[in-house]
This record gives sequence, C-alpha cells and structure tokens, in this order.
Amino acid sequence: MSEEQRALESSEFEVQSSTSESEHFELCTANVELSLAEIRDGLSRPQKELPPKYFYDERGSRLFEEITELPEYYLTRAERALLEEWMPRWVGDMRPRAVVELGAGSGRKTRIILDAMVAGVGKLYVPVDISEDFLESTAVALRGEYDGMDVWPLVADIGGVLDLPRDLPDPVLFAFLGSTIGNFTPEAAIELLAQVRAAMSAGDRFLLGVDLRKDPGVIEAAYNDSRGVTAEFNLNMLRVLNAEFGANFDPAAFRHHAFYHPERHCVEMHLVSANDQSVSVPGAGDFRLAAGESIRTEISCKQDRASVEWILAGAGMGIAEWATDDEGRYALVLATAERGR
Ligand code: AVJ
Repeated sequence: MSEEQRALESSEFEVQSSTSESEHFELCTANVELSLAEIRDGLSRPQKELPPKYFYDERGSRLFEEITELPEYYLTRAERALLEEWMPRWVGDMRPRAVVELGAGSGRKTRIILDAMVAGVGKLYVPVDISEDFLESTAVALRGEYDGMDVWPLVADIGGVLDLPRDLPDPVLFAFLGSTIGNFTPEAAIELLAQVRAAMSAGDRFLLGVDLRKDPGVIEAAYNDSRGVTAEFNLNMLRVLNAEFGANFDPAAFRHHAFYHPERHCVEMHLVSANDQSVSVPGAGDFRLAAGESIRTEISCKQDRASVEWILAGAGMGIAEWATDDEGRYALVLATAERGR
C-alpha cells in the first residue's frame, strides 16, 4: 500500500495547492492573485494541470447535475441509495445537533441527511463550499424547507486551509460526500481530513462517500458517456477561465480524454490540444501547447477499504461503519476521531 501511496505522491502527480478564501470580501483581489499564481504554476509543469474547482460555474454545475443522471455515471445513484438505507440508523444512533458538509453541492444528498436529522434534535447545517452564490441559494432554499433549521454557510476552498467552526453544538456530523475525496491524492486527502479531525470532539462523526475500485471498463464508461456530457463538462473549464480571468482558450481546439490509471487507481481527465497553439491568461502568462499535449483537469481516485483506512488513519480517524451496495461499487463510511479499529 505505502509503495503505491508514494507513487501517487511523485511530483508528476502533484496536485495544485491552494489557499483558504474564507475572508472573501476585501481579500478578493488577493484571491485573484493567488488563483493566477496557481494557474501559472499548473500550466508551467511538464504535465500541465488545472484544478477541478474551475469546472463549476453555473453552467458547469448544471452539466455536473446532468452527469449524475447519466446511465453510465453510477456514483450518485449508488451513494443516494446508501444514504437512504443507512442515514436513518446512523443519524438516529449519534443524534447530531449540527451537520458540517464539505463541498456542499446541490443539496439532494444533503436533504437525506437533514431529513434524518429533523427526526432528532439537530437544527444547524453548515455547508462549506467555494461558490458563495451557490451557498447563498442553497441556504435560502433549505431555510425555507426545514422549519427551525439554522443554515450558516461557510465560503472556503476545500483544497486549502479550512477554518472549520469548533464551537458548534455537539455532537457534530461532518460529511464529505459525492466521492469528491477522489479529487485528492492520498496525501492531500490526509491533509484535508486532518483539518476535519482537528475540529472534531470525541462524540463527533465523519461521514465519507467513496467510489470503489472495480472493472476499469465500468469506471472509464462513467467518464466517457455516450452523450458527451462529460466532455462538455471538461471543456467548460476553458470557458470558465475565459470568463473569470480573461483567458483566450478556444474550446474547439481541445478534446476530452479520460482514462483509468490502474496502478494509481485513478481516473484522469485531460483536455488534449488539437494543434500547436499558444494560450494567454492575463496576469498568469502565455503558455504553449504542442499538438497532442494535454492539460490534466481532474484526478478521480478510486478506493478500497484498505486505502480508506490508510487515509483515515493518517488523519487520526478510524472506521466505525462501512457500508457498500450489493455490487461493491460504492462505499459509505462513518468514521470516529479515533485511529484504527
Ligand atoms: C464530483 C469530483 C466526484 O470525480 O466523479 C464527474 C466529478 N468528473 N465526471 C467525479 C466528475 C467527471 C466527480 N466528483
């Protein structure tokens, strides 16, 4: 295992570091500077890279929602079924008074947790996401739907330093769903989860959704859907960079490429340059791409029980509950702030 983990940490596989953006307002200019530095960095590597957070403007979020409904993309449906099966019991047992959700997303999965919570004593929900607009609309919707539920959105980049609240009514259920942990190398995942662990008290729990290792054909199909929605989603990153940073990417000059790397157990999504070209990102620089050269836009690592245990242990946590669907495609994990078991 550790051999493998080390391979993942090789510089070739480095994932962008980023910065906390919780004090978003007057730091806006500083944030743009940091984003530009991150972009410059990523596009200056031998294997060019851009962070997956740039998929998600409004159009990108809509495309992702569309992905979750594709026949090939089993992840969301598998997770939803597991949440429906296990949340009533797990939430019923721990009776959380607050839920903190990392990378909150559209809220369909959140509602399954909140539904289980309102049956008990919980009445505080803290969604943590990088998109402030998105957080606001989710907060407004949830406040309307759940009478007496407090919603305190927290704007933060989960790829950086998180300032998680530590004075919440406990026990707190921390949640990181959607298999988004797959976007992190094991080492980066440990760094993120260690921050969650640091905010946990003894009675708190951490709920994690992970996509499991399986027939590579099944995984590759999930990232190469027949309708081309994933390709559009991938290419959308270029439109986001054009809109947000005034870059001049021509989406028509790139094609979607996604493949499973069996040794790393990760899907990699790339945008492959169709020809020799130069792109400019004002404030970050000009970058040359040769025909066939690619920009890696996402890794989506697949786990097994051992790799999840390894990551959790590295963050100072241990597995309390492990539930998978019948086909073993996906796992829902409940962890405690105690290492190993
Ligand atoms: C939202 C990060 C879990 O990795 O499967 C879907 C994003 N990328 N299709 C994933 C995604 C391509 C998704 N995560």
